[in-house]
This record gives sequence, structure tokens and C-alpha cells, in this order.
Amino acid sequence: MGINRRNLLQATSAAAAFFGAGAAKAATASPRKGDVELRGTVGRLERLGSLELESQQDFLTGFRSFVNDDLRKAAAMRAEAIVKSAGMDPKGEMKYAQAAALFEKDPIMATYVKAWVANQQQTWSTIQDYFHRNADQYLSEMDAFDKQGPGTVEWDPKMFIPDYTKHEIHIQPGGYVGDPFAGYINFYGVNNFYAGRNYQDETQYAIAQAVPLPKDGKVKRILDLGCATGRLTLQMKERFPDAEVWGIDVGGPMVRYAHVRAADLGIDVNYAQRLAEDTKFPDGYFDIVTSYILMHEVTIEASHKITAEALRVLRPGGVYFPVDFANGKQRGPITPYAAFSVWWDHRWNNEVWSIDYRDSNYADFMRKAGFAVDETVKSARRGHGGLLGIKT
Ligand SMILES: C[S@@+](CC[C@H](N)C(=O)[O-])C[C@H]1O[C@@H](n2cnc3c(N)ncnc32)[C@H](O)[C@@H]1O
Repeated sequence: MGINRRNLLQATSAAAAFFGAGAAKAATASPRKGDVELRGTVGRLERLGSLELESQQDFLTGFRSFVNDDLRKAAAMRAEAIVKSAGMDPKGEMKYAQAAALFEKDPIMATYVKAWVANQQQTWSTIQDYFHRNADQYLSEMDAFDKQGPGTVEWDPKMFIPDYTKHEIHIQPGGYVGDPFAGYINFYGVNNFYAGRNYQDETQYAIAQAVPLPKDGKVKRILDLGCATGRLTLQMKERFPDAEVWGIDVGGPMVRYAHVRAADLGIDVNYAQRLAEDTKFPDGYFDIVTSYILMHEVTIEASHKITAEALRVLRPGGVYFPVDFANGKQRGPITPYAAFSVWWDHRWNNEVWSIDYRDSNYADFMRKAGFAVDETVKSARRGHGGLLGIKT
């Protein structure tokens, strides 16, 4: 008998041993009513719906690795040479605008940035195009899953959406709130960001494992802010199977897809379309609040409000574990090359708010909100700050 490639590594119990508990549950749970699982799964990753799209994404992911590794190195070396020939120190600090003026027109630097941005554009547009072409199937999938568990989803097309969340952040077409398939598009597009190293939610697994416990060890309820497609939320539930776990996000399509995925994996979590600055939960309801790469995607004003809200919904002794790019004391110097990187990410990758975030000090925001802050914890992610807030 030949190999059945479609079902190779499908979520069988053998694959589950390798890929984790979610895959084990998926083995018995799938297929569910309304499920559009056209080409099987690899562990807990549902394969893209057509070979054409999957091979495009594989190519783009490989190309991204080349750009991130080899082209980035070439750009960094070139930057050093340019800075030295201008009589400056490559390890010194530089302002964003100065770095842009110095490097932007250099052909090696421009090739690197253009290759990166074009890859990002292609990644999004190919995925968006597929889901729009197959809109009926995937709308039906979300509709069917809205009504089935395990877990729940709550979303409201009339919810107030703040303007600052409406940008097409990292040039995702429609952003998080402006495309009915934003969740699907984001999930598969972001797999490219991770250069193929997060197909089994490995990053969120590591972060969930790193979350420090409240001192008394009691964990009954957990909230994940800005949950996107719910990857960290799922990992928190897998670490704390007896807890009531919530993921909230401003994007209705984000939480709808998060729920499709969770229910398909057989994991009992709750998703809701709500604002992180106004979660609607009672005071002191949660033992742990997490967020992963939310803060650099909101305004400074929203960041303060979200931090205050995290404090409000935690019980005394509860812990807040926000993981994001290192800033404040944890950030290294903004060298000319680093300044250029932040600048082009802002200008060409539409990272609207991250430039302000990088110049701020999130640990101070947490202290200002009233948290006792430990800056020595590990975030479990390279380049990301480790911060722990405790509600005293
Ligand atoms: C980079 S993604 C988060 C990734 C996610 N935590 C994970 O584990 O993969 C940022 C998310 O924050 C959401 N977001 C932005 N502003 C928000 C707000 N004010 N309230 C709730 N969610 C927000 C966005 O819609 C987006 O889904």
C-alpha cells in the first residue's frame, strides 16, 4: 500500500504524542459539523485548502528565511560600512530619521527592505485571495462553529471599534477588524512571520510554560488580552486544564476563527470580541492575565488603559505576564542599523504604533498602574522583554 500523503501525520494518537494534547483531542474530535478540513492536518496545523496556496506559502516562507538570514546580514554589514565612512560609530545611538536618510537610497539596504516587504505583500495577498474565492465555504464553517463547542465565542458586528485598531497593521489587508476572514488570513500569514517555526504553536507553548504562578499557586481563571487567533489562550488552557480560560480581541473575525480552531482541536476555551481596555469582567475575577505582542500594536494612551484594566480584573496576588518587544531598561541601544530597522518597519510594514512603544518603558507603565513589577523574569522569547506584574 502506498503512502496516503493527504493523511500523513494526521492527528492520530502517534502524532499526538509528538505534537501535543491538542492534536490528541483533534484526532477524536474532527471532523466536526461544518468543518472545512480539505487536506488534513499536520499535527495541530490544519493544512491550507489547496496545494497551489500551500506551495506558494512554503516558497514565501523559505524566501523569508533567506531574507531574514542572508540578506539581513548583508544589509547589516553594509550599514556598518556606510556609518564608518560617514565618520560615525556603528554602535552609537542614532535617530530614526537620520538613519532613514543615511541608508534608504543605498542599493543593498533597499534590496533587503524591498525583498522583505514584497514577501510580506505576497504572503497576505495570496492567502486573502484564496479565502475570498472560497468565501461561502469558510463563512459556513464559522457560522457552524459559532454554535458548537467545546468552548464558546461571542462577537458583535455593532461593537464600537476604536480608530487606532483599524490600521492595516503589518500590511495585513483589512487589518484585524476589516475583513471577515481576518482570522484565517492572520493565522496562515503569521506562520510565515515565524519562518515556519510555529506551525505547532511552539512559541505560545513556551510562553505559557514561562508564566509564573501566583504565590498561593491558585489558578482558577485566566484572561488572554489581544488573543488574535487564540494560540496563547489555547496553550494556557493546556497548561491549566481545570481553569476557566478567556481570550479577548477587538477583531470579531479574529475570535470567530480562534473558536473554530479551538473547537476543532477539542479545547474548551472562551473567546469574546471585547476591548482590552474595557473587558467587561468583574473586579478581581482572574488569577492570571497574559498578553503577547499586543502592546506594541496599540497607542500609548490605550496601553496605559489596558494596563489599568489588567490590574482591575486581577484578584489580589494575581499575576500579569505581558510579553512584547523589549523596551525601557531591557532594550539595547538604538544603533544606526536598529534605528533604520524600526523606521522601515514603521514606514513600509505599517507598524503604526511600535515606534512609540519601543521608545517607551512598559515596566514604568505597569508601576504607574499600581503593579509591583519584577523585571528579572524570562519571557521565553528572544528579543522580548520579561516582565511580571503582581497585584498586591
Ligand atoms: C499581534 S496580535 C496578538 C498575537 C496573539 N497574542 C498570539 O498569541 O499569537 C495583536 C492582537 O491584538 C488585538 N488588539 C489590538 N488592539 C486591541 C484592543 N484594544 N483590545 C483587544 N484586542 C486588541 C488585535 O486585533 C490583534 O489580534
